[in-house]
Amino acid sequence: MQSTPDKDLKVWKDATLLTMADGYGRIENGAIATLQDKIVWLGPARDLPMAYAEAEVISCGGNFLSPGLIDCHTHLVYGGSRVAEFKQRLGGMSYANIAQAGGGILSTVRATRDADEYELFSAAQKRLTQLQRSGVTTIEIKSGYGLDLDNELKILRVARKIGQNPAVDVVTSFLGAHTVPPEFQGDAQAYMDYITHDMLPAVVRENLADAVDVFCETIGFNTDQVEQLFARAHELGLPVKIHAEQLSNSGGAKLAADYQALSADHLEYLDETAIKHMAAAGTVAVLLPGAFYALRETQLPPIALLRKYNVPMAVASDSNPGSAPVLSLSLMISMASTLFRLTPEEALAGVTRVAAQALGLRDRGVLEVGKKADFALWDIHHPAELAYQIGGNLCVGIIKDGKAISL
Ligand code: NIG
Ligand code: FE
Repeated sequence: MQSTPDKDLKVWKDATLLTMADGYGRIENGAIATLQDKIVWLGPARDLPMAYAEAEVISCGGNFLSPGLIDCHTHLVYGGSRVAEFKQRLGGMSYANIAQAGGGILSTVRATRDADEYELFSAAQKRLTQLQRSGVTTIEIKSGYGLDLDNELKILRVARKIGQNPAVDVVTSFLGAHTVPPEFQGDAQAYMDYITHDMLPAVVRENLADAVDVFCETIGFNTDQVEQLFARAHELGLPVKIHAEQLSNSGGAKLAADYQALSADHLEYLDETAIKHMAAAGTVAVLLPGAFYALRETQLPPIALLRKYNVPMAVASDSNPGSAPVLSLSLMISMASTLFRLTPEEALAGVTRVAAQALGLRDRGVLEVGKKADFALWDIHHPAELAYQIGGNLCVGIIKDGKAISL
C-alpha cells in the first residue's frame, strides 16, 4: 500500500536562507521542512533527508528567506489622525510644545475615546496590512490613547481581536501611563495612583495585557511614579518595559533595568551607567529610527556604547499617529542603518532575533528546528540590500505558521 503524504508536511525550496541564528546565518540553496506551524528541518537542499521525500514541495523562486519580521513596539490602535499637528511641526513648533498646549497624545486620546471598537479595529487593521506587506508576522500593540479604564480596555480588546487574525500574532502592552489625561491635569501622581489601584488590576483580571509600559519623561511620568507602576506590575505578575530617554535623560532606562524590564525604548539620551544596568539585566535596547526621523531629532542613541556592553539592539516602527506615522518595518531597517549606523546585519537582527527577545518570545525570530514557521521572502541578491534600498517593497511573500499568506 502506498503511504499518503502528510498534508501538513511541507518543504520550502529554492531559497537563500538567512537563519539569523548567528549573524545572517546564510545558507545557499537552502530548504526548510515544516510540519504544521513548526520548522522540523533546515539546511542545504542537497542534504534534505529522504524522510521528507513525500512532503509537498513549494518553490521560493530563488528569493531570500528570513524569519518573519517582528515589530516589537507599536501604538497601532488609535482614532483620528495628527496630520494638522504634522503641519505645525513643519512650521517649527516642537513635539513637546504641542503636547504642553494640549495637542499631541491628548488630541489622539480625544479621537480614540470618540471611536467605537469597530472603528478602531478597521483603522488599525488597515495599518496592520501595510506593516504585514513589509514582512511582519508578529506585532506588539500598546494601549495608551484611552487613559481611563473603559477606553484603555477598549483599545486592548481591539488589539486582542486583531490577534485573532491567523496571519499575525499580537502581543499587547498596557500603556495607561502614556500621559496625564485631562481629568487629572496637573496631578500625575493622582493619575498614577488610579492606574495602580484600579486600572492595572482590571486589565490583568481580563487578561488583556502581556506587559506594562510607561512614558518616563518631563511630559510623561517621573521615576518615582514609574517605580510605583513597576512594583505593582510585578505584584500582578506582568513584565515591564519603558519609553525612556527620548527627549531628555530622565533615568527611566536604568530604573527599568533594575526591574528586569524586557526592553527600554527610544534611548537617544541614554548614559553609560544605564547601559551597564541594561547589560546586567538583559534588557533589550529598542531603537525607533522612525520617531527620530519624524521629529527631526539630532541626538543619536549611543550605539557604540550599547555595542561595547553587548546590549542587544532591536529596531521597531513605533507606528503611532504623532511621532512616527510609520507603515513599513522594512523601511526601519534602512533608517536604523543610515540614521543610527547599525550594520545591515544588526538592523535585520533587530527586527527578527532581538525583537523576539524584546517581547520575551523564545519560539521565533530565528530559523531553527522547533521554531515557528513564520517566514518573509525577499527579492534581493544580498541581505544588505534590505538596508540599502529605501522605500518600495522588497518583500515578495509571507509564510505564517507554515502557510503562505496573501494580503
Ligand atoms: O513612542 N513617546 C511617547 N509615545 C509615542 C508617541 C505617541 C504620540 O505622539 O502619539 C512614541 O513616540
Ligand atoms: Fe512608542
